[in-house]
Amino acid sequence: MQQLPRIFLYLILISASVLFLYFSNISYSINLTSWDSTNFDTHLFLSPEPLVQIWNKNNSTDKFCVWFNFTKAIQISSNLSISLCTHGSIGYSKFIFDHAKHWSDLISVSFILDENGFSALQAFQKLHQCIPEAAEKISAHLVWRMPLNDGECSASFIIKGLSNLSSDSEPFNCDLETHIEAGRFEHSLSSPYPPNSLRNIARRGASTNLHLIADIENHFSLNASEILSISAAKSINKNDKVAVIVRRFEYNDTFFEPPRTIYELNELMENNQAFEFHHFLYAVGHRIPGLNNWLNYSLSADTVPNLTPITYQGNVWEPQLIVHSSYPYHFEGFPIRIHDQQALPYELCRAGYSFAVASHVFSFHKGIKLSPSTKESAARKAVAKMASETGKKFRAYLDKKYSKIKSKNCKDWK
Ligand SMILES: *[C@@H]1O[C@H](CO)[C@@H](O)[C@H](O)[C@H]1NC(C)=O
Ligand SMILES: *[C@@H]1O[C@H](CO)[C@@H](O)[C@H](O)[C@H]1NC(C)=O
Ligand SMILES: *[C@@H]1O[C@H](CO)[C@@H](O)[C@H](O)[C@H]1NC(C)=O
Ligand SMILES: *[C@@H]1O[C@H](CO)[C@@H](O)[C@H](O)[C@H]1NC(C)=O
Ligand SMILES: *[C@@H]1O[C@H](CO)[C@@H](O)[C@H](O)[C@H]1NC(C)=O
Ligand SMILES: *[C@@H]1O[C@H](CO)[C@@H](O)[C@H](O)[C@H]1NC(C)=O
Ligand SMILES: *[C@@H]1O[C@H](CO)[C@@H](O)[C@H](O)[C@H]1NC(C)=O
Ligand SMILES: *[C@@H]1O[C@H](CO)[C@@H](O)[C@H](O)[C@H]1NC(C)=O
Repeated sequence: MQQLPRIFLYLILISASVLFLYFSNISYSINLTSWDSTNFDTHLFLSPEPLVQIWNKNNSTDKFCVWFNFTKAIQISSNLSISLCTHGSIGYSKFIFDHAKHWSDLISVSFILDENGFSALQAFQKLHQCIPEAAEKISAHLVWRMPLNDGECSASFIIKGLSNLSSDSEPFNCDLETHIEAGRFEHSLSSPYPPNSLRNIARRGASTNLHLIADIENHFSLNASEILSISAAKSINKNDKVAVIVRRFEYNDTFFEPPRTIYELNELMENNQAFEFHHFLYAVGHRIPGLNNWLNYSLSADTVPNLTPITYQGNVWEPQLIVHSSYPYHFEGFPIRIHDQQALPYELCRAGYSFAVASHVFSFHKGIKLSPSTKESAARKAVAKMASETGKKFRAYLDKKYSKIKSKNCKDWK
C-alpha cells in the first residue's frame, strides 16, 4: 500500500510531462536543459507543425503573418471562463507576467515583433517556461509584417531569428527583473503599431467564448476573473447581446501602491490620487456615468456583484469591454490612438447591442497622465490621412452590414 501512491505520482508526473510536450508547440527542452541557442533544435519546433497564417482583414493595407499558440496555456477552460485578450510589441511582453499572477483565468496575448525583437522573444519564452502561472495561463501569438517580396508567411522568420542569437548568458535565471535590467526587453518597433489587428488576433487565438479586451499596461483588481465569471458571464451571449464594461482607473504611482481592492481605490480617489482613466487627457472617451453609485454599491459589504445597464455614450467613447467570441471584431486599419478603440463600441451600437457596467471589479493604470507626450502628438499628425481613409471604409462597411438609418443613440461615425 505504501508503494502505490508513489507509483501513481510517477505516472502522473510522466503523463503530465507528455501532455505538456504534446500541447505545447515549442516546449522542446523543458525541464531537461534550459533554453539555449547552442543546443537549439529546429526540428522540435516543427512537430507538430506551427500554425502560421496570413492575417489581412477589412481590406487593411497591412498584411501580417501570425503564429498562433507559439506558447500554449495548459489550463483548461470552462464555459464561464473569460480570456484576458491583450496585445503589445514584444518588448511589452514583460508586463504579461503580472497578469499571469493576478488574473486567475486564461490569457491570450498577441505580440508583434520585427528583426530587432528576438532577444525579447527569447526572454519571454524562457520566463514563460519557468514561471508556473505563466505556463498555466498564457497563450501567446506572434505577429510580424508579411515580407513584401515573397508574399508568404513561414515560421522560419521566427526560428531563424531565435537560432541566430548569441547564447544566453544566464540560461537558468528565472527572475523577470534581472532580464529587464539586462535590457533584454528593450525593443522598439520599426513600423507603425497596428492596434486593432493585434486585438483581433488575441481574440481569435483565445480558446474561450468570453473575451475581455484590455491594454497590457492595465492591471486588474483582486479576484476580478472569478467575480466576472459569476456576475457577467451569463449575460454575454448571442441572444442577449450585452457587452459588459469593466471600469478603468489611473493612480499616482509616486508614493502609492497599486489599488488592488475597491477599498484601496476609494481611499486613493478620496485623496485625489486616483481618477477615472485619462481623466485629464481624454475624459470624454472614458467617462462612465454612475461612478458614485458604483463605488457605494461595490464598497458595501453585503452586496452581490451585479451589472448596471448604461446607454452608449457616443462615437468617441472607448470603454473596456467583455464580449462574446461571436460579437464583431475591431475594424482594422486605424492607427494607434486615432479612433482605434472606439470602432468596436460604435459598431456594437449600430448592431443593436447594449452595454452594462460590472460592479466590484476594475482595472488600474500606473501613473496619471496629464498631457500627451510630444512624440505621441507628432505620431498622431503623421497618420491622420490613414485614419481618415480607414474611417471612410469603416462607414461604407457599416452601411452595408447594418441599417443605414442610425438610431438617436448611435448617431454618425465621425
Ligand atoms: C473590401 O473591398 C471589396 C472590393 O473593393 C469591397 O467589396 C468590400 O466591401 C470591402 N470590404 C470592407 C470591409 O471594406
Ligand atoms: C543574424 O544576425 C546577424 C548579425 O546580428 C544579422 O546581420 C543577420 O541578419 C541575422 N540573420 C537572421 C536570419 O536573423
Ligand atoms: C490554440 O490552442 C487552443 C487550445 O488548444 C485551441 O483551442 C485553438 O484552436 C488554437 N488556436 C488556433 C488559432 O489554432
Ligand atoms: C478574493 O477571494 C478570496 C477567496 O475567496 C477572499 O478570501 C478574498 O477576500 C477576496 N478578495 C477580494 C478583494 O475580493
Ligand atoms: C455552462 O455549462 C453548464 C453545463 O454544461 C450549463 O448548465 C450552463 O448553463 C452553462 N453556462 C453558460 C453560461 O453557458
Ligand atoms: C503624485 O504625488 C506626488 C507626491 O504627493 C505629487 O507631487 C504629484 O503632484 C502627484 N501627481 C499627480 C498627477 O497628482
Ligand atoms: C449606498 O449603498 C447602500 C447599500 O447598497 C444603499 O442602501 C444606500 O442607499 C446607498 N447610498 C447612496 C447615497 O446611494
Ligand atoms: C471587418 O471587421 C469587422 C469588425 O469590425 C469584422 O466583424 C468583419 O468580419 C470584417 N470583415 C472582413 C471582410 O474581414
